[in-house]
Amino acid sequence: MALVTSLSVRTDQAKIDRIDPNLYSIEQVLNMLGEDELIHSIAQVDLGKAKVGEDLIFKGYTVKDGKKSKRISTYFVCTDCHNTTREFDDASSEDPADRLHYAKENGLPFLPGSTLWGIYNRETFYNDDYVEKYGDLVTNARDSLANAVQLCSKYCSSGRYIEDWELEAIMHYFKKNELHLSDIVIPDKDKFALVEGNLNQSQKENLAKSIKGAYRQAYSATFMETMDRNARPYGEGGDAENGKLIYKKACMFCHQNKRVTYLHLDDGKLSGRFLWRNRKKYSDQSIYQIVRHGTYSKTGRKQYMPHYTKEKMSDAQLNDLVAYIKQIAKR
Ligand code: HEC
Ligand code: HEC
Repeated sequence: MALVTSLSVRTDQAKIDRIDPNLYSIEQVLNMLGEDELIHSIAQVDLGKAKVGEDLIFKGYTVKDGKKSKRISTYFVCTDCHNTTREFDDASSEDPADRLHYAKENGLPFLPGSTLWGIYNRETFYNDDYVEKYGDLVTNARDSLANAVQLCSKYCSSGRYIEDWELEAIMHYFKKNELHLSDIVIPDKDKFALVEGNLNQSQKENLAKSIKGAYRQAYSATFMETMDRNARPYGEGGDAENGKLIYKKACMFCHQNKRVTYLHLDDGKLSGRFLWRNRKKYSDQSIYQIVRHGTYSKTGRKQYMPHYTKEKMSDAQLNDLVAYIKQIAKR
C-alpha cells in the first residue's frame, strides 16, 4: 500500500518536474481555467516595443529615428518612485517589514510607489485612499492599467500625458515582465491539478482563486494623519539600525546631492540636526508630517515629495527612522 502511494506520488512529481513553470504565464493559466481576460491583455509581446517601454520607464525618453524623443517629465523618471523588480520574497505580501527586508537583501531602494513588477497581472490601481489625493482622476484609472499609466505620467511625474506609441511600448514592457507560475508559491496539490487537467467547473474556480491569492492583484493604500505631537515616540524604543536602512534607501535615494529636489540630505550631523530640530512641528520640515503627507506640486515648483502610506512605511518603521536621526543628530 505504502509502496503504491509513494510510487504514484513519484510519477506525479515526475510530471510536475517536466513542466517548466517559466513557460507558463499566470495569464495563460488563468485563461485556461476560464477566468475573464485582462482588459489590457496583449497576446504576444513585441520585444522591440518592450525595449522602447523600458527606455521610457528608466530614462523618460527613447531614441527614435536617430532623435531623442520628448521627455515624459523634466523632474522625474518612473524609477524615482517605483522599483521594477520583485519586492517581496512572497509575492502575496504587502507587509512593509517584509518589503524592507527584501530591499536590504537585494539592494533595492524603499520607495513610495508599488513595484511595476507584475503590474501586468494586477486588476486595480490607485486603490483605497488614493481617491483623496487624485479625486475623479482615480475613477478612470482604478480598473484600467493604461489610464493608471497616464495618470502617473501627467500627475505623479509632474509631466505630460503620453502618446499612443509610448503607452503601447510601456504596456509591452509590462507584458514582458508579467508573472509566471515560477514567481508564485502554490501548494503541490494545485500543481498536480494543473498537470492532470480534467477539472470540473468548481475545481477550476477554486484553483483560479488559489493562484490569484498567491500574488497581489492590488496594493492597499491607507493614508495616515500626521501623528499628534504628544503621541510621537521620537525614536523611543526604535531600532536605529533599521532606521539607518530606511534613511539610506528612502530619504537619501532622492535627497542625496539634491537628486530630485533642492534639499540635500545625507547621514552627517547637519542633516540629522535639521530633521531632529523640527521633529515636533506640524510642517513640511517635520519628519512626522513629510512622511505622511509629502508635498504637493505647484506652478513654478513642480517637484513634490510623494507621501508614504501605511503599507509603504509603518509607524514602527517611522519610529526606527527617527531613532536613527536622533543618533546622527547627537553624534
Ligand atoms: C514622484 C513619484 C512617482 C513617479 C515619478 C511615478 N509614479 Fe507611478 N505612482 C506613484 C505613486 C505614489 C503611486 C500610487 C499607487 C502605488 O503605486 O501604490 C503610483 C501608481 C502608479 C501605477 C498604479 C500602480 C498600482 O498598483 O496601483 C502605475 C501603473 C504607475 N504608477 C506607473 C508609473 C509610470 C509608468 C511612471 C513613469 C512614467 C510613474 N508611475 C512615475 C508615484 C510615482
Ligand atoms: C521620491 C523621492 C523622495 C523621497 C523618497 C523622499 N523625498 Fe523628501 N522630498 C522630495 C521632493 C521632490 C521634495 C520637495 C522639495 C522641493 O521642492 O524640491 C521633498 C521635500 C522634503 C522635505 C521638505 C523640504 C522643505 O523645505 O519643505 C523634507 C524635510 C523631506 N523631503 C525629507 C524626506 C525624508 C526624511 C525622506 C525619507 C523618509 C524623504 N524626504 C524621502 C523627494 C523625496
